[in-house]
Amino acid sequence: MDAENPKQVYEDLKSQIRYHNYRYYVLDDPVVSDFEYDQMLKQLEKIEAQHPDWVTPDSPSQRAGAEPQDKFEKVVHPVPILSLANAYDPQGLRDWFDRISKLDERVGKTEFTIEPKLDGLTVVLRYDNGVFTQGATRGNGVIGEDITANLRTINVLPLRIPVQPGGPAVPEVLYVRGEALIYKSDFENLNQLLEEAGEKTYLNPRNTAAGSLRQLDPRITAQRPLKLLVYAIVAHRNGEIPTSQWETLEYLRALGFPVAASSRRVATLEDAIQICMETDPGQFAYELDGMVIKLNDLALSADLGVVGKDPRGAIAYKFPAEVVSTKLVDIGVNVGRTGVLTPYAILDPVEIRGAVIKQATLHNFDYIAETDIRVGDRVMVKRAGEVIPYIIGPVVDARDGTEKPYVPPPVCPSCGEPVVNPPDEVAYYCVNSSCPAQLVRNLEHFVSQGAMDIVGLGINTVQQLVDAGLLTDLADLYHLSKNQLLKLEGFKEKKAENLIASIEASKSQPLARLINALGIRGVGEVAAQDLAARYHDLDALSQASAEEIEAIGGFGPSIAENITEWFASPDNQAMLAKLRASGVWPTAEEKTAGGPRPLDGLTFVITGTLPSLSRAEAKNLIETNGGKVTGSVSARTSYLLLGEDPGSKFDKARQLGVPMLSEADLQQLIKDKAQ
Ligand code: IVH
Repeated sequence: MDAENPKQVYEDLKSQIRYHNYRYYVLDDPVVSDFEYDQMLKQLEKIEAQHPDWVTPDSPSQRAGAEPQDKFEKVVHPVPILSLANAYDPQGLRDWFDRISKLDERVGKTEFTIEPKLDGLTVVLRYDNGVFTQGATRGNGVIGEDITANLRTINVLPLRIPVQPGGPAVPEVLYVRGEALIYKSDFENLNQLLEEAGEKTYLNPRNTAAGSLRQLDPRITAQRPLKLLVYAIVAHRNGEIPTSQWETLEYLRALGFPVAASSRRVATLEDAIQICMETDPGQFAYELDGMVIKLNDLALSADLGVVGKDPRGAIAYKFPAEVVSTKLVDIGVNVGRTGVLTPYAILDPVEIRGAVIKQATLHNFDYIAETDIRVGDRVMVKRAGEVIPYIIGPVVDARDGTEKPYVPPPVCPSCGEPVVNPPDEVAYYCVNSSCPAQLVRNLEHFVSQGAMDIVGLGINTVQQLVDAGLLTDLADLYHLSKNQLLKLEGFKEKKAENLIASIEASKSQPLARLINALGIRGVGEVAAQDLAARYHDLDALSQASAEEIEAIGGFGPSIAENITEWFASPDNQAMLAKLRASGVWPTAEEKTAGGPRPLDGLTFVITGTLPSLSRAEAKNLIETNGGKVTGSVSARTSYLLLGEDPGSKFDKARQLGVPMLSEADLQQLIKDKAQ
């Protein structure tokens, strides 16, 4: 540390971290490795521990979530936070344009911007001399609620602008408007985790985002995958701001805010209409319920004024209804891999935006009771982008008395064994370890790509084998014979031989894959790799205590307990003994100090979207195998791990002649080197 000016060292460190934060979260294009970033954060925390009086709320260390509050304070917005008028078809947009053209002749000459109409929670962010000082909900448009502490936990929200030295000048006070939202994939992951933990799942990304931000405990908000996209400057004091909407978007982007990449600028209303018609909301990573068309000239917009709460200078084109009503014919129940029973709606087929919907999720049994959904009801169904359609609720007025309240099944619909509903969980479980429905799901997982990767064994064949009584547990796979298969429908000589061969080949899958394949609740690919790196074989793992597993890091008490419970089950032990007897018993080098690992000494850079691993999972895979992951390509990079839509790192690697690997190549490299 620079002993002469430690405060300056601290300030420099903060601005570096701020910049790397922005590269990572907003641009998704980090230039340093996570390791280097973590080192900087640690250094920052060290300095702050020595000088607590230096810490200000805009320090990158202040995102984790502050103490809970009793209530939200009220915030008066600097100007009313307006809404938008809606149009539902091209004619509605043309009518809007004709109306305002008559009011001001400049309308005919201005350009337009088109932006996604984000379906999140509107937020108003205040910056004083570039420091984020206050964030509020829209409320009634005049007064909102102070949710600063919650907003601070959103990683893409800059705590200080501009995020990078040399960025545009910032007015003394700046109010920025945007939407806080949850991306569809993050939403689905969150729900999957909740479902596996037997907790209540959320209805949709919008409600989850809104609910998370209205939490009195910011530490809970910090655990939600919230994002932000901004689109307007609401007010400012002292300083310059752009005069057009397009420049506003560019300016906000240059300050370090996340701005929707799909925003466009066009010369005519007809161009804008064409874009609206061609846009498929399913293509977006987040939910949108339409497009917003704005006059690019902001002075003109301001001069046109407002009608009620709607500014004349902008209009929302709403996509055709995504909510329809239909009859709930029946309620079916799925049995998941972990035995969780999940109800689903069987509907009179109905079309929503071109797709025919016959089924929809009902989340859990509590949801059916709370929403008072009855069999025979007319129900409202919503489909948003790729998110699975769900039932919003019944149309109570349409009831004729024939509807039947629903009672959760007392026994498993697959095996008929009694169902269990633990007192502190919303989930109902079938706890019969030989339940055929669970077995089918478990097998489906066991043979899948990230697990034992048994080619040629799809869900239908799995079902066929279980129905034929050939499989009663996972280990039975390794006892199948060609003759048995030949007796089944659709199996000819070649197909049977191929399947037997791929089952045989799976015996040499590494330990991590087998651990993942077992389907222990909460143990996915990444956790399985960590366990394989720590334990030599399944014997060692089955003797580990929950405390010991927790000590590995990244394992919470409930997952650790799931693991020990899984291994304590006599059925599972019997199944493991069968696996072992069949020769399915991979071993791994224990991660003792300095033991050699397959990727030792190799440095990787990751770019683009990989087919099955997330960036964090890929990094974890490389690191648990001894490799290093850095953020930028250099002559010292051993390999570029290349996914789809690569960034600039791809060009750099090509220039430098750095070899490139696909995800499958990487898996192969680890396997080859491990031998
Ligand atoms: S501009 C005066 N732009 O949709 C400017 N609003 O249904 C008015 N919204 O209350 C808002 N995406 O919260 C604007 N790109 C976008 C938007 C957007 C979503 C929200 C906004 C508004 C609501 C109106």
